[in-house]
Amino acid sequence: MLEEEYQPRRALPPHLRKAPEPEAPFAFEIRDATLRDLPDVREIYNYYVVNSVVTFDEDAMTLREWRSKFAYLHKLKMPFLVAVSPTGQVLGYALVSPWKQKRAYRFTVENSIYLRPAATGKGLGHALLEALIERSRAAGLKEILAVVADKGAEGSLRLHEAFGFTEIGRMGRVGYKFERWLGTVMLQKSLK
Ligand SMILES: CC(C)(COP(=O)(O)OP(=O)(O)OC[C@H]1O[C@@H](n2cnc3c(N)ncnc32)[C@H](O)[C@@H]1OP(=O)(O)O)[C@@H](O)C(=O)NCCC(=O)NCCS
Repeated sequence: MLEEEYQPRRALPPHLRKAPEPEAPFAFEIRDATLRDLPDVREIYNYYVVNSVVTFDEDAMTLREWRSKFAYLHKLKMPFLVAVSPTGQVLGYALVSPWKQKRAYRFTVENSIYLRPAATGKGLGHALLEALIERSRAAGLKEILAVVADKGAEGSLRLHEAFGFTEIGRMGRVGYKFERWLGTVMLQKSLK
């Protein structure tokens, strides 16, 4: 064989190849959010602000805005949870905030749940929402509302329905993002 004809073997025969590493299980811990989590929380939320219609925000939130929201929720003792990977990466968050400022609404909150795109579809949303509901109940809250975009948020609708949120109404053409009109679906769950 001439030297220039020599072709190095590109891959080992199957019986000599190393078995692929098993995929690490999807592990996470759910805990209260801290100030140090806010840069990650901001990054997660802003991804959906810029790339989706699941939030009607169009301007990325600043860290200062997140700090102020954190302080406000903390003062009201409203649950704000994060899910964290074994290496400490924030994978997602869930919180509740007052539905309206008028005093008679004080037992009613709206929830918000956002996961890092790579952490979706693996049951984390389910675990976070379950923890959020439990914490909201323990905080003495009575009603949780979810306001979900009527397009592009099928995962969120499915997730809320799985926890017994029921549709209580729809608003059509109340949002305009990415050059199209959007509506909202409102869902409610009683914590009694
Ligand atoms: C919505 C979100 C929190 C759901 O969390 P998740 O971890 O992806 O969902 P889970 O894996 O726990 O699945 C929960 C349920 O939703 C369903 N689901 C998840 N993604 C879905 C999708 N894209 N379309 C349809 N159903 C979906 C699952 O099948 C599951 O249903 P089941 O309980 O009947 O089996 C997450 O996908 C997310 O952060 N999405 C982007 C941000 C967002 O939409 N936030 C909500 C704003 S209102």
